Order: sequence, then C-alpha cells, then structure tokens
Amino acid sequence: MRNGIEHETSGAPRYRLWYPLAGLVVALVFLLVALQGAEPASATGDAAPAPRIVGGSDVPNGRYAFVAALRDTRYGSTAHAQQFCGGALIDHDSVLTAAHCVTGSSTAPLLVTVGRTVLSSSQGQTRGVSRIFVHPNYRGNAYDAAVVKLANPVSVIAPIKLARASQDSLEASGHYATVAGWGNTIAQPANGDAGQNYPDRMREVRVPLVSDLRAKQVYGGEFVSSLMVAAGQTGKDTCQGDSGGPMFAATAGKYRQIGITSFGYGCGAAGYPGVYTEVNHSSIRNFITNAASK
Ligand code: ARG
Repeated sequence: MRNGIEHETSGAPRYRLWYPLAGLVVALVFLLVALQGAEPASATGDAAPAPRIVGGSDVPNGRYAFVAALRDTRYGSTAHAQQFCGGALIDHDSVLTAAHCVTGSSTAPLLVTVGRTVLSSSQGQTRGVSRIFVHPNYRGNAYDAAVVKLANPVSVIAPIKLARASQDSLEASGHYATVAGWGNTIAQPANGDAGQNYPDRMREVRVPLVSDLRAKQVYGGEFVSSLMVAAGQTGKDTCQGDSGGPMFAATAGKYRQIGITSFGYGCGAAGYPGVYTEVNHSSIRNFITNAASK
C-alpha cells in the first residue's frame, strides 16, 4: 500500500495541475488503508478467536510427537496435500485412528508420519502401512475406530497411553481435554460450508467435555452414550481433516487418550459439540489392544 501511494505522488510534470488536490487524495488513501486494516483486526479480536484447528493455537515443534499424520500418496506430492486424517501412535508400530478414515482402503498408497509438527518439513519418521484393522462393529458413526500397523516400527517417539476403564473421570463433563491436528481451521455452521484453510503446522485446542445427556439432545440416536464422548464449545472444535486424531488429557504427568475424533455437525457451531469415539469402552479398548498386538 505504501508503494502505491509513493507511486501516485511521485511528481511527473503532467500531474502538477492536481497538486492542490494531492493532499486530499493522500488523506483519503490513508483513511481507506486504515479502515481496511481495522476490519480484520476487529474480526479476529474479541468476538471471534483467530482461526485455528478451530479456535486453537499453533503447536510448537516437537510437542505431541505421538500425533500421526495419515497420508495418501494419491492426493498429491507434498505431505500437506497427502494428509487426510490424524492418528495416534499407541506403540512402536501401531497407530490408532478412526474407522471412517481407512475403511475399505488399501494399504499401498498410505503413509503415516509421526513426530512431525510442520507437514512441509522433514521432521519425524514416516512409515508405510502393512495392515489395517477396522472395528468389526463399525457402522454409521458407531465404533469409529481402526488400528493401522506400520511396515516398520518407529524409534524414540513415546506412544500415548490409552485411558483405562477406571479413568472415566477423565471424561466427566466440565473437564477439559486437548485435541490436535491439521484439520480445517475455519468454523463451519451446522449446515453449510464456510470455506477451508488447511494449516501446515499442527494446531491444538482445549475443549470442555460435554455431558452424554446434552450430546443426546443435540445428536439424538446418532450419539450412543456408551461408545462416544462429546466435547467442544462455540468456536472451539475439531474439524474436517482432524478425524482419527486423539483427544487426550494429562494425568500424573502422562498423556492418556480419551477419544478418537469422529464426527460433528459443522465445526465449532453453537450448540454442536464434536463427537469422539470412547477409547475406554470395553469392546473398543479390547479391539485396539488386540489389533495392536498383531
Ligand atoms: N469427520 C471429520 C473428518 O473426517 C471430523 C469431524 C469432526 N467434526 C467436529 N465438528 N468435531 O475429519
């Protein structure tokens, strides 16, 4: 903008007639620049939080190394273009994700990267996929869990631990959990499309867990209380591309995975929390540990 002004006022002789008006023109240009500058500032200020995972913040390099980027090499040549879902490293060669991310897909085009924060960087370790296990009861939104076995184990990166059945308090409503991923950062209305921005750097946001009662009021029969846990608030949510990634909380200094990002109406839409597969449901947890052991 500053260049434009300099250009307009650099006095070529034929502009001299306009010289008395130049001050006014410059003042108007400055006014327009100021108004345009003010618009995004107020849009990202008090009312709406800056666009992130939805409503979150950048993850610093190396944090949450257990978060996996699931990639499909048919979607492009860069990791950013290839990334389509999240996951969580649960042992040195197993990644937990959502069934809807990998059901029916072949292993050949898939890559899994862990220990990477910025997709376009060379951080972390990338592996091919040898086998895919989808929960046998996966149907509709229920039992949305799958385990992807890596062709070779990764080293050094600490896997995340699964929440135990006794750790239901982790998902008590009002508690907070963290979700992270490379999904769309633009909040979406419950019906409709508000546009897309897929970040290169992982984002995270803390979301309050929502009671099963409220989730059932919102989602009706689509929400199965024993199999799912809801979390989020207006403007703070996971979104498309975050699916399969972990929802987790720290207990005694260790991260425990509570949920798998599964579905929601819109993203961050008022009254519509995100829905997560409940990791400590006995059938889901047994499936996970059994598939991971293969
Ligand atoms: N199903 C989406 C995906 O495949 C994630 C949905 C999460 N939506 C939400 N509002 N929490 O990436």
